[in-house]
Amino acid sequence: MAKHLLVTGGCGFIGSNYVRQVLSEKVYRVTNFDKLTYAGNPENLRDVEGNPDYRFVRGDIASREDVERVFSDKIDYVVNFAAESHVDRSILDPDAFVMTNITGTYRLLEAARKAGVERFLQISTDEVYGSLGTDGKFREDTPLSPNSPYSASKASADMLALSYFRTFGMAVIITRCSNNYGPYQFPEKLIPLLVTNALADKELPVYGDGLNVRDWIHVADHCRGIELVLHEGAPGNVYNIGADNERTNIEIVKVILKVLRKPESLITYVKDRPGHDRRYAIDATKAKRELGFSVTVPFEAGIAETVDWYVENREWWERIKTGAYMDYYARQYNR
Ligand code: NAD
Ligand code: TYD
Repeated sequence: MAKHLLVTGGCGFIGSNYVRQVLSEKVYRVTNFDKLTYAGNPENLRDVEGNPDYRFVRGDIASREDVERVFSDKIDYVVNFAAESHVDRSILDPDAFVMTNITGTYRLLEAARKAGVERFLQISTDEVYGSLGTDGKFREDTPLSPNSPYSASKASADMLALSYFRTFGMAVIITRCSNNYGPYQFPEKLIPLLVTNALADKELPVYGDGLNVRDWIHVADHCRGIELVLHEGAPGNVYNIGADNERTNIEIVKVILKVLRKPESLITYVKDRPGHDRRYAIDATKAKRELGFSVTVPFEAGIAETVDWYVENREWWERIKTGAYMDYYARQYNR
């Protein structure tokens, strides 16, 4: 019988890309368990809804009842994407970050332990390592030093997850990936915000001096890495995932304006984010050496294809940007 894979947060950006990828490549029964917060959009997986191997269950990972309900079916693998994921929102209101990212991960670990799942993959982030100066990269043994409520909540979840390996011998594995870009990313994050604002001839807000550095990977490569770690990774281990692709924010802005043939006069420098991490850079040597991980999407091609996706799917993002939640957010940021 096909293995049963529980994906949480499958209606979000990375989760929806992952579900589509595994359904096209593997024989699984996939259950997508998602609360459908502002960031969860059923449209992101409309194309797989008719697939007999796919099922959607609405629920909250922080609710014991909801989690027990989904675990009443036998589950072999858990991949936990569900999270509050935006740093700026965690600064405005950390509450949901603590509930979902910490309590939610705990509820899933506990249910998975009781159910005796084969593997539990916690999707974490390089932001748990904190901020780098001009040199060096994050390695798996870099001490955790999170700076935002978002990254602190993800670091807490990582610690809980590892405790389930050490204390209960559960086969927990953690991935820590760098910044993702690609189709279906909610237009509050840097790249889709820039693309959709530029398409609407709106200002492109750049925090601070625009020289903060992020290390970008295409979401398809991240998803391939996750699938590899789920099956080949060693329990109790952390694997960094990245594409050795550091860029300053202003460089990203200029690339996007160039692809869209829009003027640099749209660039607007705005107040910096409090506690803004200066630089992220990920060393993915361990995943490359031990698991044979490699990236397949060159940045220039990936960004051009991503911009095209937002051009082709205007209805998708216009509906989001005119929706109530985005209005609330936009008000805070004067957009
Ligand atoms: P996203 O915000 O686009 O999606 C999150 C999904 O989780 C949504 O579908 C939402 O409805 C769901 N969700 C939120 N709270 C929930 C709850 N309590 N119960 C059930 N479902 C809930 O996020 P994303 O960018 O796709 O990120 C997915 C994961 O990857 C997160 O854990 C994030 O920390 C991690 N990550 C993201 C990036 C990135 O660049 N986006 C990089 C590294 C790691
Ligand atoms: P973001 O996409 O929020 O990801 P993260 O903060 O998790 O890395 O932001 C990426 C970078 O872009 C970060 O340095 C903050 C910056 N940024 C802006 O300059 N303007 C914006 O409007 C946003 C959303 C982000």
